[in-house]
Amino acid sequence: MTVDLNERVAFETRHNGPTPSEESEMMRALNVASLDELIDQTIPQKIRLQNPLKLSEPLNEYEYLNKLKLTASKNKVFKSYIGQGYYNCVVPTVIQRNILENPGWYTAYTPYQAEIAQGRLEALINFQTLVIDLTGMEIANASLLDEGTAAAEAVSMLHATRPRDKKKAQKFIVDERTFPQTLEVLKTRTTPLGIDLVVADINTIDLSDPELFGVFFQYPDNFGEVTDRAAFVAAAKENNVSIAVASDLLSLCLLTPPGEWGADVVVGTAQRFGVPMGYGGPHAGFFATLEANKRHIPGRIIGVSKDAEGQPAYRMALQTREQHIKRERATSNICTAQVLLAVMSSMYAVYHGPEGLKRIASRVHGLAQTTVRSLDKLGLTNKNETYFDTLRFALSANQKEAVKAASEAKGVNFRYIENEVLISFDETHQPVDAQEVVDIFSSALQQDTEAIFTTVEINFPEGLARTSAFLEHDVFQIYQSEHEILRYMKRLENKDLSLAHSMISLGSCTMKLNATTEMIPVTWPEFGSIHPFAPASQTEGYKELIDELHDWLAEITGFAAVSFQPNSGAQGEFAGLMAIRSYHQANGDHHRNITLIPSSAHGTNPASAVMAGMKVVIVKCDDHGNIDVDDLKAKAEQHSENLSALMVTYPSTHGVFEESIMEICAVIHQHGGQVYMDGANMNAQVGLTSPAMIGADVCHLNLHKTFCIPHGGGGPGMGPIGVAEHLAPYLPGSHHEGVDDVNVSSAPYGSASILPISHAYIAMMGASGLKKATEVAILNANYIGHRLKEHFPILYANEKGRNAHELIIDCRGFKQYGVEVEDIAKRLMDYGYHAPTVSFPVPGTMMIEPTESETKAEIDRFCDVMVSIREEIEEVISGQADKENNVLKNAPHTYRTVIAEEWSYPYTREKAAFPLAELKHNKFWPSVSRIDSAFGDRNLMCSCAPVEEYMETGELVS
Ligand SMILES: Cc1ncc(COP(=O)(O)O)c(C=O)c1O
Repeated sequence: MTVDLNERVAFETRHNGPTPSEESEMMRALNVASLDELIDQTIPQKIRLQNPLKLSEPLNEYEYLNKLKLTASKNKVFKSYIGQGYYNCVVPTVIQRNILENPGWYTAYTPYQAEIAQGRLEALINFQTLVIDLTGMEIANASLLDEGTAAAEAVSMLHATRPRDKKKAQKFIVDERTFPQTLEVLKTRTTPLGIDLVVADINTIDLSDPELFGVFFQYPDNFGEVTDRAAFVAAAKENNVSIAVASDLLSLCLLTPPGEWGADVVVGTAQRFGVPMGYGGPHAGFFATLEANKRHIPGRIIGVSKDAEGQPAYRMALQTREQHIKRERATSNICTAQVLLAVMSSMYAVYHGPEGLKRIASRVHGLAQTTVRSLDKLGLTNKNETYFDTLRFALSANQKEAVKAASEAKGVNFRYIENEVLISFDETHQPVDAQEVVDIFSSALQQDTEAIFTTVEINFPEGLARTSAFLEHDVFQIYQSEHEILRYMKRLENKDLSLAHSMISLGSCTMKLNATTEMIPVTWPEFGSIHPFAPASQTEGYKELIDELHDWLAEITGFAAVSFQPNSGAQGEFAGLMAIRSYHQANGDHHRNITLIPSSAHGTNPASAVMAGMKVVIVKCDDHGNIDVDDLKAKAEQHSENLSALMVTYPSTHGVFEESIMEICAVIHQHGGQVYMDGANMNAQVGLTSPAMIGADVCHLNLHKTFCIPHGGGGPGMGPIGVAEHLAPYLPGSHHEGVDDVNVSSAPYGSASILPISHAYIAMMGASGLKKATEVAILNANYIGHRLKEHFPILYANEKGRNAHELIIDCRGFKQYGVEVEDIAKRLMDYGYHAPTVSFPVPGTMMIEPTESETKAEIDRFCDVMVSIREEIEEVISGQADKENNVLKNAPHTYRTVIAEEWSYPYTREKAAFPLAELKHNKFWPSVSRIDSAFGDRNLMCSCAPVEEYMETGELVS
């Protein structure tokens, strides 16, 4: 036997699902001789790339991890006392392994199909409870992207809900002691809304100013000072001025929460609740407010309702009001948020309980206090009269240099502002660390001091010391041994359907393989333990990784520059539109404010446009789902003078490569506009065409779709934007001379610690692997079309009858027989599948996107299920099954229903639970039956049930 020693298993063969023989079978079914022939029939010739992508040779998984270790080792992990919103913490290993590193949690989708998402919905309601209790507020959402964007959302919401007598007020004051990164995001976000943002010392402001509608301050503030603002908030309320506060959850275990002063909104980040700093993210931003604002809250809110069996069940409350669904009437574009990280933070609180959290907070404060005492002996006086974790000392320039040198020699980072040093303690610090801090100062200042005390008395002044209890619910009391939390997390995981169970063919969401090798580096400390504002000399590994990924994404998109700041697709949209806005303004075209958006666009498009200060004009689509070019031309002509941009998704949200795309882009350019391409469908482009090729000027890339970052049950994500040369100066973080900085995230590179996932994917696939992935994604989608076309009408295809990487099946015809598309979605659960995307972009339809990672065998299984459901629909149509009481209407069926002594349905238990024989060997049981959403909205409850309720039902926490 001859052995080729160079032969290795290419990662591509693991990532792409179908085997060569499966590919051949599918091509035969589609009547094409090769993938090339299929692609020729699918993608217009004039937009096809002529040359292969210029990327490095693909590495296999073993080679990649070895290479990346070298890159990672160029990051230097220093002990961080930088603070400023980012703190080291102890990630409980049981949570790290069983959630962060567990595909059962990280490959799930946003919990729109609530019956098969009860696990993460429960974890998120725990998160909301945690935020509500610690902030002292009435209602909280299930996470935002970070503290800076949460602050911006607070200002937008307060602006949108100004009381009647302030309807015209535009002034909003931000206290000058706010974290600088939050201030930067606030400036970017408020400018296009016309809000007059004033940075001032709030101790000196005139609250009776009729122009003033709100005030924002940080508590503890940017320097670590803790100030009792009860009187200030009361005075503001008397003047009808709203109050938003950024706060720190750990400090609120000891300090009076802003809710008790009467704040309207409290925001912040839950990072230090068990999530690594990760060079800036991802972490769960939080947003808490008053019940009165419940319909204006950005993002998702989880609520309790009941299922068809009367059992408590969770689902996304006020679901249809998720802000971006309001399109141009929305005040927020948040879609992807930070579910996985919110789940981690909630579990951190569950694991420690209120007493454990108080102990952690007290130790952190105690370490700061003992350090103050020893530094005092060196003549250094802490400038913060009252503090939680952060100390502030004035230093001469020479002292500062000496402290900096001495600390860096010890592998320690402090924060420096002009002639001051700030030191923030966190959960990872020990008394020896406090002693080390003292020793650093002692040696830098060349003076002796005494050893630190290891017991301290903790007392906050009256008014500031927290007196109210928090987290009294059972869930925060009973899972504090490792076995108990392990089993709790497993119990929740088992309620959720993820990619670990079956294909999730959600159109537009690209639920492809999130390979283990791609995920491994995420929890390496060289990536996880880096502070976003660590000195550049300590982050060379990140620089190498980000630079490489920058060049690869530039090559893939055909663009000149990429910004990694946006941490979701929607933030990318906003950042891209802001770049377009700045470009027009730099050309003196301040009046260009019209954005054309096709009617089929995702809701975030119009929502982002409005946030960027634009007016939205809708362009019609024709009967084939394509942009109506005549309507586009007419509208471009009509708004020629003020045309700013077109937002276009390509291939379209209808799953078709429109032939006219180049013409469409040319029309916009002729009228002086710019083309923003929504990159949600990049999985159909990579290696075959590109945004630059079609004529776009800017696009975002959802790295959590095409580039393998897992969806995490609804986040995290990354939405970097690529731009053509002329827009590069206007990118976030470009620091271009003469151009105002744009900042759309708190951290310079958004959620940097998940970038290794996309880096790994591209490095291991290489140019040919990526191109093949796109081709197979298109093959798989068209094969599904072939299998289902006799059973369901397929909406939209190109002239040759081909779809791109996704297709829409029309379920509207069944409505007249009482069968709704929702019934099909719920029945799929009985068969062990998650529904495809329901009613987007066309109401009453399903959009199916299999991705390249599914084998033909899995696709056939899914199609068999759809055919079987179609037969069940036929039974209703023919009258064989009752119109109201049938397997579809009663789906999903839980094991409780199926094994109950009483069985009153007009079909068998077997048909209910095992409609296909193989389900007897591998069955996923939905944990609740059909959820009554309207009941939940009428009786909105968004935190853990009161303790008494657990006693009554024993259900909610089990
Ligand atoms: C077509 C389209 N555009 C934009 C978005 C928004 O992206 P994100 O959820 O990352 O904010 C989505 C998300 O699903 C989408 O499908």
